Amino acid sequence: DDAYLVTHALAKHTLSQLRDVETEQVSFRKGLVKLGRICGYEIIDGRMETEYVEIDTPLEPTMGEQVRGLDDVVIINVLRAATPFVEGLLKAFPRARQGVISASRDEEAGREDDGSFPISVDYVKLPEITEDDTVIIADPMLATGSTMCTVLEHVIENSPDPENMIVLSAVSAPEGLLRVDNQFDEVDLLTVSIDDHLDDDGFIVPGLGDAGDRAFR
Ligand code: PRP
Repeated sequence: DDAYLVTHALAKHTLSQLRDVETEQVSFRKGLVKLGRICGYEIIDGRMETEYVEIDTPLEPTMGEQVRGLDDVVIINVLRAATPFVEGLLKAFPRARQGVISASRDEEAGREDDGSFPISVDYVKLPEITEDDTVIIADPMLATGSTMCTVLEHVIENSPDPENMIVLSAVSAPEGLLRVDNQFDEVDLLTVSIDDHLDDDGFIVPGLGDAGDRAFR
């Protein structure tokens, strides 16, 4: 498994707007949608192959190109902050099947000795995943990685080694990337930014605050 950065200038531009404390709810949500779309295009560009196909133009036959595997995409929405992010991804993958997992940190319980949070999972609904699929697990924030590790356990339980398994986040903390990387060999990590560190409450610094609250409250 590997970690990759989304380096598209518009991704960095949009993430910077999301970080800005002055960005209010509607703009924040729209920014997440936009970022999801850009990340989707980056996944297509960097992870999927094209093949040559014969096309009939209105004038004559010619060779064209098409992206392989666009019909075999599964997007997993980790509630709740991922919802606008997934909306953007769907613009890049309009035919994707979708899974939904509600997983959140039990912040009252506090962090464990290893820095992780206990995670409560309230709802899991996943489509059937096959070995042809590109599975994208989307969550704008990868902090301690506790949520993502729990989500991955559920996803991997019913996926027979899919073609690609991608964890996609907007901002990640080094601790979270390491945790996921150490526990799941088959997963590739894709993020727009690797931020500096986690604070004592497990918030990404500098980060963008609480994405769920900023998008929905
Ligand atoms: C946030 C975020 C991730 C998780 C990341 O969700 O959207 O799901 O925390 O933290 P971790 O890597 O330390 O597990 P939160 O639990 O606040 O739920 P919400 O999306 O419903 O606000």
